Amino acid sequence: MTHLRSEKYFYITTPIYYVNDVPHIGHAYTTVAADVLARYKRLEGYQVFFLTGTDEHGQKVERAAQERGVDPKAHCDEMVKRFQSLWKKLSISNTDFIRTTEGRHKKVVQMILQDLYDRGEIYQDNYDGWYCVPDERFWTEKDLIDGKCPDCLRPVIGISEKNYFFRMSKYQSWLIEQIEKNDRFILPPSRRNEILGFLRSPLEDLCISRPKKRLSWGIEIPFDPEYVTYVWFDALINYVSGIGYGSETSQFSNFWPEAIHLIGKDILTTHTVYWPTMLRAIGLTPPKTVFAHGWWTVEGKKMSKSLQNVVEPNRLVDTYGVDAVRYFLMREVPFGSDGDFSHAAMVHRINSDLANDLGNLFSRTLSMVIRYFGGSIPEPSSSKDVDQGLQQISERVIHQISKQMEDLAFNKALSSIWEIVSAANKYVDETAPWSLAKEEKQRPRLATVLYQALEAIRIIALLLAPFMPSTSEKMWSYLGLEENLWEQTLEENGEWGGLKPRRTVIQPAPLFPRIDSSKISEGA
Ligand code: ME8
Ligand code: MG
Repeated sequence: MTHLRSEKYFYITTPIYYVNDVPHIGHAYTTVAADVLARYKRLEGYQVFFLTGTDEHGQKVERAAQERGVDPKAHCDEMVKRFQSLWKKLSISNTDFIRTTEGRHKKVVQMILQDLYDRGEIYQDNYDGWYCVPDERFWTEKDLIDGKCPDCLRPVIGISEKNYFFRMSKYQSWLIEQIEKNDRFILPPSRRNEILGFLRSPLEDLCISRPKKRLSWGIEIPFDPEYVTYVWFDALINYVSGIGYGSETSQFSNFWPEAIHLIGKDILTTHTVYWPTMLRAIGLTPPKTVFAHGWWTVEGKKMSKSLQNVVEPNRLVDTYGVDAVRYFLMREVPFGSDGDFSHAAMVHRINSDLANDLGNLFSRTLSMVIRYFGGSIPEPSSSKDVDQGLQQISERVIHQISKQMEDLAFNKALSSIWEIVSAANKYVDETAPWSLAKEEKQRPRLATVLYQALEAIRIIALLLAPFMPSTSEKMWSYLGLEENLWEQTLEENGEWGGLKPRRTVIQPAPLFPRIDSSKISEGA
């Protein structure tokens, strides 16, 4: 009786993106990384909750809707589809999608505001300062650089009005202690140092409201209907409202202690200063980890609408295929470092890693099984050192990857998988099954060699599933495996020898056709 096996939980989030913006590879990057982790943890047998969504309030959305002459909610309903359809196209396996205009979210924001107000954590005062509309951030005079937003260097607008404030300053020493005692709270370490540096200056209270006469597109402050909630205070709460905070179910209490927020380095302060202090005031623990990844440029330039170089992920997928795009994003730069997108780099990765290394291993192995054994997976006999060497590499890699994924070192995990790919290619070269096939007495040896190569491919398909889900599904079915790939676990299926002889493999189409780079640059 094993019904009582203890459940393991994993909660992963992306930022909720501004619904107004056209999704580009920056957004795709964070979301693909979250998806890879979610799928990997499922393979490890975890119960996974993967949340993404859209940030739909604030001045930017209100202005954009006004310019189009439509109601802001109708505007959001249209815009949100661009994100939802892109996530489908990128094989994103999110558990839920939260929009900040949904009732379930507004209810939680208002409940939290009322509670904080009742307990004196929120007070009213005059606000004299500056506001950056594109970033939706408040700044003081001394924050500004040459009179502009210190984060994005765009113009700010002056604001002088009565507003509500959250007593963030009183949590400063608590926050420093949290960061210091837990070295996985803010990752990578350079970001942790950045925030500890920021916290050397006194922390101010956080303005959390906007008067409706200036901005009406927001969640009404429950204790003062003249105001709406500041969009960042509203948005951060998605991470708890999205898993049912405040409702009776156990979902929230299971998942919240395991929360990992993936973000870009642009929104580090809101996630590692505003958010943990808000949580502390509500009586909740901070997220387990906030990981701030690096910034993508395109062909060496910062992406900007005016430069017309925003890389449109839909077009990338149409040109290169979804798995090649996912692979490139995860393989090209270490998670945490900045990266540059170029078509040349993309084509190079596809041709060398995917078409050449992986694609060749797969097609030549399966072709030989078909040619020499009519497609029936042969029964291995006694094994030699060379066979055991391949098996040992696979076992070492599976072990290694678990640590690399724990560290969100996606590029290292992929190069580990490629150690098996290379070892398997080398194994096939060295054992030369085409020569064995010439002598009848070598039949048992030929069977062993092809079995070993197929087994390496099965393990590769399993390990690659989080990164390249459709490719792994294809590999899986060509190997004649009928079990649902998404119900496998590394523990049960990652062991060498899991492939069952006498099932039938299928003649594969090339997994990744080579790309002729001269045909690319124009279209994509
Ligand atoms: O900030 N390189 O939303 P946003 C890498 N609504 N990542 C990039 C990127 C780039 N060039 N550009 C964008 C907001 N990103 C708020 C978030 S969360 C409670 C509220 C990714 O639409 C990266 O994840 O501006 C970054 O943090 C996020 O998109 C910003 O998305
Ligand atoms: Mg932004």
